[in-house]
Amino acid sequence: MLRTLFFGLFLALLRTGNQKLTICCLLFSVRAVFAANEVVQDPDTGLVFTSNYQLYKINQGITFRVAIPGDAQINTAFDAVIQLVVPSDVGWVGLSWGGSMPNNPLVVAWQNAGSVVLSPRWATGHVMPTESTNAGTYRLFQTGTKSNGTHWQFTALCQGCTSWTTSSGGSRYLTPTGGNRLAFAYSPGRPSSPGTSSSSIPIHDVHGYWNHDFAAARNPNFHELVQRLV
Ligand SMILES: *[C@@H]1O[C@H](CO)[C@@H](O)[C@H](O)[C@H]1NC(C)=O
Repeated sequence: MLRTLFFGLFLALLRTGNQKLTICCLLFSVRAVFAANEVVQDPDTGLVFTSNYQLYKINQGITFRVAIPGDAQINTAFDAVIQLVVPSDVGWVGLSWGGSMPNNPLVVAWQNAGSVVLSPRWATGHVMPTESTNAGTYRLFQTGTKSNGTHWQFTALCQGCTSWTTSSGGSRYLTPTGGNRLAFAYSPGRPSSPGTSSSSIPIHDVHGYWNHDFAAARNPNFHELVQRLV
């Protein structure tokens, strides 16, 4: 039904011959449909996530979800669970905890042999990020990690992703009580050695960022639930 609505709108505007208006309104309608920071109760893991859908092509996006402990404190590192829902045509997807690529903890994920490879990485500039022990430690959960004919999905705990040392030597902490700017990158190309987490990856085609609400991602029973999932 939504597709019909978009298509109708598109046709109507096309007839006016104003292409700029068409493109602007199309993007606006696509954005408006997918609510930002939707709160999702995940039936698989029992965790509550805030969820953002990021378009990487017309009509197709990747869903990014974050869940954090209810007792997370400001100016203190806290654990986080991420869940990504990724269309099958995605070769790799990257997430930046700091909202841009250089000097922030990154994670690059791709599908391999029916599961998912997670590679914590770091880049000092706009060069291929390399695997790094400064970019957090991930534990992939079996629960909440699955695929079907159209999508792959993973759920993982990250320790060491919400606080890091900046390039100027200071400490950066994400806030557990408000919004944090996160960023993503996407490539349709697959890593050259998909079985190895340190594999080379082709450069991204698309990147973007958004403000991810962490306040509504707080789970009072986070530690209990995560204990059952690791
Ligand atoms: C395929 O998997 C994704 C991710 O788990 C899910 O969102 C989607 O609804 C599934 N599609 C079908 C047809 O089951």
